[in-house]
Amino acid sequence: MKHLLTLGALTPPEMLHILDIADEYKRLHKAGADPKDLQGKTVALLFAQHSTRTRASLEAGIYHLGGLGAYLSARDLQAARGEPLRDTARVLGRYYDAIVCRTCKQADLELLAQVSGVPVVSGMTDYAHPLQALADLMTVRAYKGRLAGLRAGFIGDGCNVCNSLIAGCLAMGMTLTVACPPGYRPAADVLRRAAGYGEAFRLTDDPDEAARGADVLFTDVWVSMGMEREAERRRRDFAGYTLDAARLALAKPDCMVQHPLPAHRGEEIAPDVLEQHAAEIFDEAENRLHVGKAVLGVLLAGR
Ligand code: CP
Repeated sequence: MKHLLTLGALTPPEMLHILDIADEYKRLHKAGADPKDLQGKTVALLFAQHSTRTRASLEAGIYHLGGLGAYLSARDLQAARGEPLRDTARVLGRYYDAIVCRTCKQADLELLAQVSGVPVVSGMTDYAHPLQALADLMTVRAYKGRLAGLRAGFIGDGCNVCNSLIAGCLAMGMTLTVACPPGYRPAADVLRRAAGYGEAFRLTDDPDEAARGADVLFTDVWVSMGMEREAERRRRDFAGYTLDAARLALAKPDCMVQHPLPAHRGEEIAPDVLEQHAAEIFDEAENRLHVGKAVLGVLLAGR
């Protein structure tokens, strides 16, 4: 693995390896014994959009491992005044050992990876959110003791988080039913790959179908960053897709709920469902820390 731009680019053993390293880093962190795997390493944290979890977990996690995570707001760089990304990438690659980048366009992330000369990790694009999906898988495995054979459902917008969950869940041997309104389906290439998993994957516009018999239910916001102008239309189109208690009752009695946060209570998730499942949802947020460290440990320290 040279970069982490999408989960679909990883093999199942590579994915499992990251999850195993993340578990190990978590155990060592709780024991007060963080290994200094990133000693002397610098990582640019380049953000063109808001973030709480991705930025904070990486800043803290890189420090735990002895490295330096430098937050760079795209608004403050010369890129905001027109310096081409191709030039910014070539400069950052000479200062830093790796770049984590949150930007809208997957093509910009890929350009960074092509020309910077250092490993590049997605901090989320409109197409994918691999660190989030890895943290989700880590959390589900910790609660359920396994991934293969579990039945997962995703209810909501078939965008970046959903694209990455499809790649991750299917690679880990789970079955997944995605329910989204017409017009909000996952990316076409993700669906083509998912079709190769046969009956393990289903796409529907019926949210109850995704919930029925599930071991874990995922959801995500209806109005993502940059989509504020579409908010009214999106809320109309997603009406009926809320993960509420009645829908959750269709799942297995011990069904987990996962949400990448920030949550919009009363939209994609009912307030009582979020609070009843807060333990696993905030464990999921915590696991962003360990997964981010694991990806950098693999890329920069040969873990
Ligand atoms: N889930 C997630 O990526 O959170 P942030 O937008 O706060 O980084």
